Amino acid sequence: MQADAYDNKSSLEEIRVRFDQDVERFSNLNTGQAATMDALLTMELITKAAVASTPEVNHLLDIGCGAGNNTMKLLELCSPKTITLVDLSLPMLQRAKERIRANFGGAIRLLQGDFRTQPLEHNHYDVILAAAVLHHLRDDQDWQQALGMIFSLNSPGGGFWISDLVSQEHPPVQALMEQRYGAYLGTQGGAAYRDKVFAYISREDSPRPVTFQLDLLRRVGYSQVELLHKNACFAAFGAIKAGS
Ligand SMILES: C[S@@+](CC[C@H](N)C(=O)[O-])C[C@H]1O[C@@H](n2cnc3c(N)ncnc32)[C@H](O)[C@@H]1O
Repeated sequence: MQADAYDNKSSLEEIRVRFDQDVERFSNLNTGQAATMDALLTMELITKAAVASTPEVNHLLDIGCGAGNNTMKLLELCSPKTITLVDLSLPMLQRAKERIRANFGGAIRLLQGDFRTQPLEHNHYDVILAAAVLHHLRDDQDWQQALGMIFSLNSPGGGFWISDLVSQEHPPVQALMEQRYGAYLGTQGGAAYRDKVFAYISREDSPRPVTFQLDLLRRVGYSQVELLHKNACFAAFGAIKAGS
């Protein structure tokens, strides 16, 4: 598992193709995604924190929504008027819409493509969710632009809530956390499963430390940041935009 080289990482198109074939794995609200440590807890924490910190949720944006698990979890807690789902993968978007439609009668807007290039309204979204997607961002400029753009989309008083694969600042601590994550994967599917997950992380992902991300969230303009949970290579955290 390597977090710092970008040249050989998957392109957006390669990531899309992989996720097009992986819809089933992201469609279980009762287990979450098996390769993620504490998947259910982090889903619960980001959605509860979102609703606790922004009592009126009219417009929801789910970035890299996959098959819609996090939006479905949020719908257990509040009733937005509109839901905007963005994903590279059309099969993911279609599954998300189908699942969300069963519990939600309002407007669902689907946008297929890179979230950074979509026609999204500024100062509009009361809650923005990004679960297991930001780790596909690459260099510092990429991260700064993406988080700055997300800040511009949040309504005043709105929040941005993230759960993701993260790395560490200090390589020996990174090695320790990888070891713990590897042990967890071993309990899920043995050594072969662990090696398979580590291989696709190394090919596809470029996670950043939660400390880096919290600093950046403040730098792009969020007035408050919150760390909700961290376990080995996974964290749940968020940020709130000052009200008007
Ligand atoms: C690991 S899945 C997580 C799905 C969902 N958020 C969840 O937690 O169940 C990551 C999703 O992000 C999407 N994705 C990755 N990079 C993206 C980007 N730049 N713009 C939009 N979607 C992206 C992928 O297509 C995939 O469906």
